[in-house]
Amino acid sequence: MPTPKSKIGFGALALLLLFISTPAMSKISYRESAKKKYLSEKVREMFYHAYDNYIAHAFPHDELKPLTKTYTDSLSELGNLKLEHLPQNYNGSALTLIESLSSLVVMGNNTEFERAVLWLSENLTFDVDARINLFECNIRALGGLLSAHILATDSTNRLVLGMYKNQLLSLAEDLGRRFLCAFDTPTGLPYAWINLKYGVMENETTETSTSGCGSLILEMGALSRLTGDPRFEAASLRALRKLWSMRSSLDLLGTTLDVVTGQWIEYSSGIGAGVDSFYEYLMKAHVLFGSDEFWDMFHSAYLAVQKYFRHGPWYHEADMRTGKATYWQLTSLQAFWPGLQILVGDIEAANSSHREFFHVWERFGVLPERYLLDREMLHPTEKYYPLRPELAESTLYLYQATKDPWYIEVGESIVKSLNTYTKVEGGFASVKDVTTMQLEDHQHSFFLAETCKYLYLLFNDSFLANQNYIFTTEGHPFPVRSAWHEKLPETYALNNWTSAKDENQVIRASAMSLQVCPDTLTLRRNGSPSVGSACHVLDARADHRCLVDEDCGIELTTCRKRTCSLAGYCGLWLFFL
Ligand SMILES: *[C@@H]1O[C@H](CO)[C@@H](O)[C@H](O)[C@H]1NC(C)=O
Ligand SMILES: *[C@@H]1O[C@H](CO)[C@@H](O)[C@H](O)[C@H]1NC(C)=O
Ligand SMILES: *[C@@H]1O[C@H](CO)[C@@H](O)[C@H](O)[C@H]1NC(C)=O
Ligand SMILES: *[C@@H]1O[C@H](CO)[C@@H](O)[C@H](O)[C@H]1NC(C)=O
Ligand SMILES: *[C@@H]1O[C@H](CO)[C@@H](O)[C@H](O)[C@H]1NC(C)=O
Ligand SMILES: *[C@@H]1O[C@H](CO)[C@@H](O)[C@H](O)[C@H]1NC(C)=O
Ligand SMILES: *[C@@H]1O[C@H](CO)[C@@H](O)[C@H](O)[C@H]1NC(C)=O
Repeated sequence: MPTPKSKIGFGALALLLLFISTPAMSKISYRESAKKKYLSEKVREMFYHAYDNYIAHAFPHDELKPLTKTYTDSLSELGNLKLEHLPQNYNGSALTLIESLSSLVVMGNNTEFERAVLWLSENLTFDVDARINLFECNIRALGGLLSAHILATDSTNRLVLGMYKNQLLSLAEDLGRRFLCAFDTPTGLPYAWINLKYGVMENETTETSTSGCGSLILEMGALSRLTGDPRFEAASLRALRKLWSMRSSLDLLGTTLDVVTGQWIEYSSGIGAGVDSFYEYLMKAHVLFGSDEFWDMFHSAYLAVQKYFRHGPWYHEADMRTGKATYWQLTSLQAFWPGLQILVGDIEAANSSHREFFHVWERFGVLPERYLLDREMLHPTEKYYPLRPELAESTLYLYQATKDPWYIEVGESIVKSLNTYTKVEGGFASVKDVTTMQLEDHQHSFFLAETCKYLYLLFNDSFLANQNYIFTTEGHPFPVRSAWHEKLPETYALNNWTSAKDENQVIRASAMSLQVCPDTLTLRRNGSPSVGSACHVLDARADHRCLVDEDCGIELTTCRKRTCSLAGYCGLWLFFL
């Protein structure tokens, strides 16, 4: 396993000083803020280098090819690994422009935001003969438009008064209507693919992923709240409930399934590709819409993840039926998990996993797509790094939660790597092979929507000062508003996160003091509550056999020490005591 020792760098030292000396504190805060200012400028330059090159060489096509300075109409290729059924006559949907809208606002560029909104209002249409992936189109196009619509209409008046007549919302509604046909299945689970003009193709594949069915609720729910048309939220909620009903007795889900039969296809799953945003959206839907139903699902799902996938700071995959480990692999997408754990309040676990991911980043220079933990080697065909945002995202959440300056250094290191290895004259290029740093001719739209945005917010969070936001899985901010809440979740009300910044907004979008384990607040470490899965210690042997109590770990839900039974199994034998 790649587990280099943690380095006690300047960051940790600075943290220490913060606690013991006030004069030192002001000095360090000054250096800290000068550094943040410098780094936020660096990230701003990165964003504009990517954006201006996209506009010059690719717009209004979907994405930039930075090495050849040309474009790709990639909306129909996203998630389409075998590049099947590509359209003959599709000239793109300005995907990277849509994805850049909220980042332009975060960086305070209202003039360019306005120009982009006007262009899209007049020129964008979804009435195109292109087969697209519902999940990808939802998070990138629908999410990008909805977030920009909300930002265009909020009280800060970013647009010239009178020129904005909800055009982005009309585009979003049009797109959402085109999505509805996907849900017309016996199970209510949506097809993974639709043709934007003609609906679900004849003989379309019925296979989809857990993420594909389970991470539509934020965008579709927001669309319903904004338009008053309940169909979008209802369709995605029905799909989510159906998906949840397919969980195993261990509260685990698989990775792929059939939308017509409602049967699982791939029983092994983890927290990475194909599943990741399912967990993310349960938690975030709870924050955005306030419904306890989402929290109850999330709570059970999260506990099962900690119980069956976690191994120290790492997460492997397991079979949903048995909980037995299947694949011991670290994937780049898993790096979002610590950020989600921050929303839950599980800071210690988030910190330790994030550190391991960062050590892997340091070792290779960037985060490889897949690393085989059991064989301590890169996956032979997945050595690439396509400018993914997940590590920067988690770093932002951890910094917001702890204000530990060490995370600024992590961000600095990420910025350095991106500029050293991926910046080219025509934009930012994906890394094809992290061992050679050979580049690939593709600048993904999420580099502008997420990677640059999260890094910028790490160094300059003025955008977050007056309003609480939930970021979608594509990094598009949705404000947390009381008007969207069925009721204020009790878990938040208890903790007085309600010091309202404006009447439209209720809660600090964080649940840092939420208890994940009901009993854990009684276990105190150094006087501070030990929250959540920090209490979970695996049994010494994977088959739970034991000779003495010491062979057994600590049970997750109750945080009680497991004991060795007379039959030689670890367990909580409370009934027999
Ligand atoms: C796409 O562009 C080509 C070349 O400019 C043009 O012939 C074609 O009609 C366009 N397709 C659509 C759907 O606009
Ligand atoms: C943060 O960014 C805003 C614009 O988005 C700018 O006005 C402000 O000066 C920046 N703050 C710092 C400390 O750089
Ligand atoms: C906004 O973006 C445009 C296009 O990149 C750029 O020319 C302009 O300088 C930017 N304005 C600000 C205030 O950053
Ligand atoms: C729409 O596209 C056309 C053709 O590229 C362009 O001339 C026009 O200015 C665009 N509309 C807006 C509002 O930018
Ligand atoms: C659908 O599949 C059937 C059976 O494989 C085949 O005969 C038919 O031509 C297919 N239709 C289309 C539109 O591909
Ligand atoms: C994170 O982990 C490091 C290394 O174990 C430790 O020094 C630091 O205090 C931790 N930070 C938090 C916020 O738990
Ligand atoms: C809740 O927070 C507000 C604003 O920070 C504060 O004025 C109030 O006293 C707090 N209420 C309680 C019960 O702590």
